[in-house]
Amino acid sequence: MTDSLRRVTPVVRLAPAKLNLTLAIVGRQEDGFHALHSVIVPLEIADRLALAPAFASGDRLHVTGAETVDIGPPARNLVLRAIAATRAACRERGVDAALPSLAARLEKRIPVAAGLGGGSSDAAAAITAALDAWGVEGAFAAADLASIASNLGSDVPFFLAGGWALVEGRGERVTSLPAPRGPAPAVLLVTPGIGVSTAAVFASFAGGARPGPGAALASSRHLAGELAAGMTAARFVERAGIMAVANDLASATAAVAPALVPFRRALGRLVRRPVGQSGSGPTLWVLYPSMAAAEAAAVVVRAALAAGDLPISGERPPFVCATRIIVGHPGSSSEAGPGRPAEITPDGGT
Ligand code: C5P
Repeated sequence: MTDSLRRVTPVVRLAPAKLNLTLAIVGRQEDGFHALHSVIVPLEIADRLALAPAFASGDRLHVTGAETVDIGPPARNLVLRAIAATRAACRERGVDAALPSLAARLEKRIPVAAGLGGGSSDAAAAITAALDAWGVEGAFAAADLASIASNLGSDVPFFLAGGWALVEGRGERVTSLPAPRGPAPAVLLVTPGIGVSTAAVFASFAGGARPGPGAALASSRHLAGELAAGMTAARFVERAGIMAVANDLASATAAVAPALVPFRRALGRLVRRPVGQSGSGPTLWVLYPSMAAAEAAAVVVRAALAAGDLPISGERPPFVCATRIIVGHPGSSSEAGPGRPAEITPDGGT
């Protein structure tokens, strides 16, 4: 690409959601954050971020797709904070290139404050997209990028690394794991319309809303070990029951949002499969061997919601969606990553 083209063509990235298959809290760090042991995977459902050099000065952000929720002012959005942090890191490093202001367009497709990592994924995508837009992709080693990422949020290093991973520390230690062999498993996501703050859930956990120590850790270690050794997709899906109960934050989330408890039970009765919670919630997940099976379940859940058979109070109706877990390897077309490059059309659409 020539320099002149680079300046007018937006850089477009898909920022995938994540799912915590396990989430064990193994202690409290000196910095106050909780130390985790969590197996996390990327999902096909993704936000879309487009960055282009701005003609006016100052980075700008326009968000669509999140009109029904309060996502806070743009200045506090992780996309603008990620661009600012990346620019500061470039300057510190003496990167000898113009770093023009950027106009960002973010299309939200991942529910907000849902335990799916949308904001963190947007931030990881913004780091690499900004470097790309400025033409300085090679300016940083992976470790430097990871440090920019971890300062932005606990889940950002996972998204920057891309792919299946064991995540430890507060989220900054990311060990890649091989995805299972075979067809990509799918998940049904059900996100009640109750915003749940991660900070509030961790505070509730610290205040005593927690299971006995080690409850989720054995399962989390076992799953990480099995994946590292190589696992088939069929065997992985068979493990759903173990993963669904391996979340040490579930009782803290229930304390913050009590309506989730009967809703989760009712969802389990309806789909007759194990129901897990992603991260600090409130998103609930159900694992399926195929996209067709997950889509069929989504139809059943939507019908039950419409008929009033799956009651839940909330500011919005629940978000229900079937999506695949990304099992592509780096370099493949379904690669997970710090924002998968998206095909670019002249108007910046995909
Ligand atoms: O890093 P992030 O913005 O996702 O975290 C939100 C809040 O959740 C933190 O301010 C902290 O209170 C809590 N947290 C924690 N331990 C973690 C991650 C988050 O205590 N590993």
